[in-house]
Amino acid sequence: MEYDAIILGAGAAGLMAAATAGQAGARVLVLDHADKAGKKILISGGGRCNFTNTGAEAACFLSGNPHFPKSALARYTQWDFLALVERHGIAWHEKTLGQLFCDGSARQILAMLLDECARGGVDIRLATQIGEIGHGDGRFRVAGASAANLVIATGGPSIPKMGATGLAYRIAERFGLAVVPPRPALVPLTLGPRDAAFRAIAGLSCPVTARVGPASFKEAALFTHRGLSGPAILQVSSYWSPGTPVELTLLDNAPELLREARRQMPRARLRAALSEHLPNRLAELLATQIGLEKQLANCSDADLERAADPLARLTLHPTGTEGYAKAEVTAGGVSTAALSSRTMAAKALPGLHVIGEAVDVTGWLGGYNFQWAWSSGWAAGMAI
Ligand code: FDA
Repeated sequence: MEYDAIILGAGAAGLMAAATAGQAGARVLVLDHADKAGKKILISGGGRCNFTNTGAEAACFLSGNPHFPKSALARYTQWDFLALVERHGIAWHEKTLGQLFCDGSARQILAMLLDECARGGVDIRLATQIGEIGHGDGRFRVAGASAANLVIATGGPSIPKMGATGLAYRIAERFGLAVVPPRPALVPLTLGPRDAAFRAIAGLSCPVTARVGPASFKEAALFTHRGLSGPAILQVSSYWSPGTPVELTLLDNAPELLREARRQMPRARLRAALSEHLPNRLAELLATQIGLEKQLANCSDADLERAADPLARLTLHPTGTEGYAKAEVTAGGVSTAALSSRTMAAKALPGLHVIGEAVDVTGWLGGYNFQWAWSSGWAAGMAI
């Protein structure tokens, strides 16, 4: 069968590109090895799909070229996607920090995309192995079909048990496109023997400012049996590399709070003062580590300053991440240097496009990654 475009991957980006190109009059075929389209959409946002973020802009993405996402994000914005959601009568709400979720179910977002594909006359073939990709005479040949355009939308290897693979990188390399080494991102971090004491407070969550290098996020952190998780940690994990410490600010104005505690509860000890502001088990652990045994009334300003240090900046030393099995996304991917930011087409081979998570563009937690899938998918769809 002859098409104008063959899209590999019936996920968020592939379905958006297919609907856009199909509705513009192109004959489009989507291929996927999974038995269902959009599996990650269905499990996203705890089943409610955090489908975009009102604050989406290039600064919320990591990429070898931080300017690269600007064009697609500006041409197909979070407001464009929200308008589509509203046209389909899907009720939504803002949860926090600009994150937009369905009131009902992520299934509505997938149904909307499939409906948009149907309107564009898109053929979707599931449970199909991609196999060999032929290329010659300006056409790509895959699974018995041929087209002038091939769109790689097979995502990254995060959550392999859902069928995620590194196929995008293999195809890119075959066509001579550079790949920035992929790594798990938005992923829990593990702690080793050096920080073992914190694994003992597994299950405890508290608001922090987490920092890795210049990146900082003020959200909740969760201590786990293996190390650290929670939104603040997932956010900084994308910036983390082996050997880099993670710093947590547990109390914003720690010295002042301790001096105030000395005034208010002079006979108490540090642990009691900390329990006023932090979960009990964390307060106990920190007080033990700080080792200031005196009643607060007997503590000098210098004692309190020293005690405040780890509260203002608790330094932990992750030994690794929990890997692709637990990573919400994959950072790195097909190098933006090889692609046009306007059309997502390979500069050296304009019929070949790469979109979504397969590209070296990775969003923060909070709906940014889907927005990139919609924006990059739309940009490629318009160019076909
Ligand atoms: P996506 O992974 O969606 O699609 C790729 C498609 O290619 C899949 O259908 C797959 O089957 C297919 N494929 C892969 N390898 C293949 C092969 N070898 N042969 C054939 N087909 C192949 N983001 C966000 O913004 N808000 C959120 O709420 C969430 N929540 C969330 C929860 C969980 C648990 C995860 C794992 C991820 C999220 N994300 C998220 C991230 C978001 O799901 C992700 O960034 C997008 O789905 C990426 O869209 P793509 O279309 O690029 O890849």
